[in-house]
Amino acid sequence: MEKKTHFNTVLVTGGAGFIGSNFVKHILDTNVAKKVVVLDAFTYAGTPENLSPFIEKTEVLITTQGESFEKVEWKGDEEEIELQSQKLPRQWIPKLKPYRRRLVSLSELRERLDSFSTAEERFMLVVGSITDAPLVESLIGSVDAVVNFAAETHVDRSILNPGAFLTTDVVGTYTLLEAARKAGWSKESGHRFLHISTDEVYGVAYHGSFTEESPISPRNPYSAAKAAADRLTASFFTTYGLPVLIVRPSNNFGPYQYPEKLVPVMVINALNNKPLPIYGDGTQKREWLFVKDCCSGVATVLTSGRLGEVYNITAGNERENREVVHRILKRLGKPESLIRHVKDRPGHDIRYSISAEKLRRELGWQPQHSFEEAMDATIDWYVENKEWWQRILERDEEYRRFWEEWYGERLAT
Ligand SMILES: NC(=O)c1ccc[n+]([C@@H]2O[C@H](COP(=O)([O-])OP(=O)(O)OC[C@H]3O[C@@H](n4cnc5c(N)ncnc54)[C@H](O)[C@@H]3O)[C@@H](O)[C@H]2O)c1
Repeated sequence: MEKKTHFNTVLVTGGAGFIGSNFVKHILDTNVAKKVVVLDAFTYAGTPENLSPFIEKTEVLITTQGESFEKVEWKGDEEEIELQSQKLPRQWIPKLKPYRRRLVSLSELRERLDSFSTAEERFMLVVGSITDAPLVESLIGSVDAVVNFAAETHVDRSILNPGAFLTTDVVGTYTLLEAARKAGWSKESGHRFLHISTDEVYGVAYHGSFTEESPISPRNPYSAAKAAADRLTASFFTTYGLPVLIVRPSNNFGPYQYPEKLVPVMVINALNNKPLPIYGDGTQKREWLFVKDCCSGVATVLTSGRLGEVYNITAGNERENREVVHRILKRLGKPESLIRHVKDRPGHDIRYSISAEKLRRELGWQPQHSFEEAMDATIDWYVENKEWWQRILERDEEYRRFWEEWYGERLAT
């Protein structure tokens, strides 16, 4: 299959999240994409500041048709946009308030996409859900690739509320796939549909490392929903000849990760001299992948991957959770007495491990960052970018609710 070194316009879903926003910068910097359209629902995990400096230079587009917003009423520039939404939580409104926003119908959106294709601008941001079929169909008609990062991503939240994971991760992926199929994407059309899956779909690696040939065996609602989306994506290749690619990255760390995942939680709590909650004895093992290496892996698969194939992405770097926490405390000069061993996550997978041999051998990908340097740089990033995470913690009531519900009792006992 012919290698595609660059794309005119790539639709990046979930582009305001952690990996998605790093990926947007990566493909614009490396010219893998001439232009990027981000579609993001701005759930609690979507952070507009992650898209700086692009977001300041554009109008954030909000569609008044489609299914993301039922009813839209524009109350003037100074006031809040009044939106009732069945599909989107309202928390995106205060987050996007500092930015220039414009309400557009779907036909106006299509006109915007047409003029975007010939304009100098390289970045467009659309607020909406990947489950919104009319919106997604309007977008897919104007792009030559989709990279689907959008998802509910936190295992702990999937234990509290699995329904949201099925809706976004499974139905949302289906909605995108179906839109690409309806748009006539095929193996010959030059389009690409790259789905971001996860190493968690394989389940626990008691011994050795999983290859792409290993059976999948997800064990929590998050990984089960991701596995469903992963296999649905593959089925659109075998059934309809849709030009799909699937990647399964290991545990990412780096700048702009929402402060609910291990590294940012531990750094932030340590900086605030608050207890660091470690599940059980902290011996769970993960393979730690610097987000920039993940992005280069995804871009490699997008440009050179064989259609219909799955590629694992890992840099090895197997570490126990407690080792990562010790490293953070050491780097910050904080005492180990801050560590609090708390009741474990139910069904906690003790070890994930995958092999990226296929990606190295077939496509020549190599990670560029050592674990030690990248982890220290990441810790330093959270120290130097306090206002980034403080703003999130202050404005996000939902975060406080989650923290209380999940950790309140754990930390009290
Ligand atoms: N973080 C990791 O370690 C890791 C590892 C392997 C795979 N992945 C996968 O990579 C992808 C990105 O992960 P992340 O850590 O950046 O996640 P994240 O939680 O930081 O970001 C998810 C983004 O998706 C958006 N989103 C959620 N629901 C949406 C919807 N219905 N429509 C449009 N946008 C929606 C959110 O607003 C947010 O911006 C996910 O698919 C995840 O499963 C993550």
